[in-house]
Amino acid sequence: MVKVLIAGGAGYIGSTIASAGLDAGITPVILDNLVRGRREFTQGRTFYEGDIADGALVDRIFSEHPEISAVVHCAALIVVP
Ligand SMILES: NC(=O)c1ccc[n+]([C@@H]2O[C@H](COP(=O)([O-])OP(=O)(O)OC[C@H]3O[C@@H](n4cnc5c(N)ncnc54)[C@H](O)[C@@H]3O)[C@@H](O)[C@H]2O)c1
Repeated sequence: MVKVLIAGGAGYIGSTIASAGLDAGITPVILDNLVRGRREFTQGRTFYEGDIADGALVDRIFSEHPEISAVVHCAALIVVP
């Protein structure tokens, strides 16, 4: 099984990439702190709620999903104010 970690995967771009991955037979693993993302975008998907700066959590995700072969980084604060 091919897995891809998608940071910011509960956001607009990240959740769309997750859907495209699923269509292509790639299992998304989502990491998002939900500061802007939407929980419903993670429904039925492997989801870790937390911050990309939480190294212990990132280590745990990789140890629990050794099949992860790539990371797509979409976590961002896109609204300047
Ligand atoms: N929306 C567009 O049209 C567009 C176009 C080109 C590029 N981009 C880029 O794509 C990226 C994502 O944009 P978007 O529109 O999906 O934004 P978005 O706000 O919908 O998604 C960003 C996600 O990142 C999460 N996040 C923010 N900080 C985090 C952190 N520290 N740890 C974990 N998760 C965190 C948010 O909760 C959110 O779910 C940005 O870099 C943006 O500049 C967006």
